[in-house]
Amino acid sequence: MSVRIDIRPKAELTADERTAFVALCAAAYSPEESAAWPGRKLEWALPDDRILVWTETGELACHAGLLIREAQWNGQAVRVGGIGSVVTHPRWRKQGFATVALRRAITFFESQPAIDFALLACEPRLFPFYAKLGWEEFHGQLLVRQQGATTEFTFNKIMTYPLALPQLVEGQLDLMGPPW
Ligand SMILES: CC(C)(COP(=O)(O)OP(=O)(O)OC[C@H]1O[C@@H](n2cnc3c(N)ncnc32)[C@H](O)[C@@H]1OP(=O)(O)O)[C@@H](O)C(=O)NCCC(=O)NCCS
Repeated sequence: MSVRIDIRPKAELTADERTAFVALCAAAYSPEESAAWPGRKLEWALPDDRILVWTETGELACHAGLLIREAQWNGQAVRVGGIGSVVTHPRWRKQGFATVALRRAITFFESQPAIDFALLACEPRLFPFYAKLGWEEFHGQLLVRQQGATTEFTFNKIMTYPLALPQLVEGQLDLMGPPW
């Protein structure tokens, strides 16, 4: 598969990239689906960077948002590489585009100083997909902030990927901010 992968700080998206991203989201989620999404009620963190995967014909096939967060695991400071908003255009699904984006996200985190592990939230139906790429379910407690208040995150399941630390699957993890 011949693809182009860009990593863009979000403020540096060109107008064409922004247009392509909006079109990708519109193709992936109908207005009714977006309006009915229960996650709309939550406060989410915005990504710092975005991975854009383009087809060889120049169409935006896949997006993943990235952020780095200083957090705490069992009271110990940890640096987390966050991945969110992973989405592939329906026309380009099951052709490896999200796999490419997720692998690129990990090499990006590996190139940053001292990131302990990567973390994403997903529905259980996606466990097998992420597990094939080395992710494991986190069975511990995840704390996040919502409008500044500490609360347990139970909206989705959590998966982690080992970086500086071995794979982290239990304990209390406090993201010290909104989830992604
Ligand atoms: C989940 C999602 C991002 C996956 O994107 P994708 O680009 O289709 O993912 P990939 O192509 O890398 O892998 C998907 C599957 O296709 C398979 N696949 C990859 N390349 C393939 C190919 N050339 N031929 C056949 N199958 C292939 C993968 O092995 C994987 O199989 P699995 O589902 O059994 O694990 C996409 O379905 C999506 O956008 N869904 C809606 C939004 C969403 O749920 N996002 C996840 C938020 S956590």
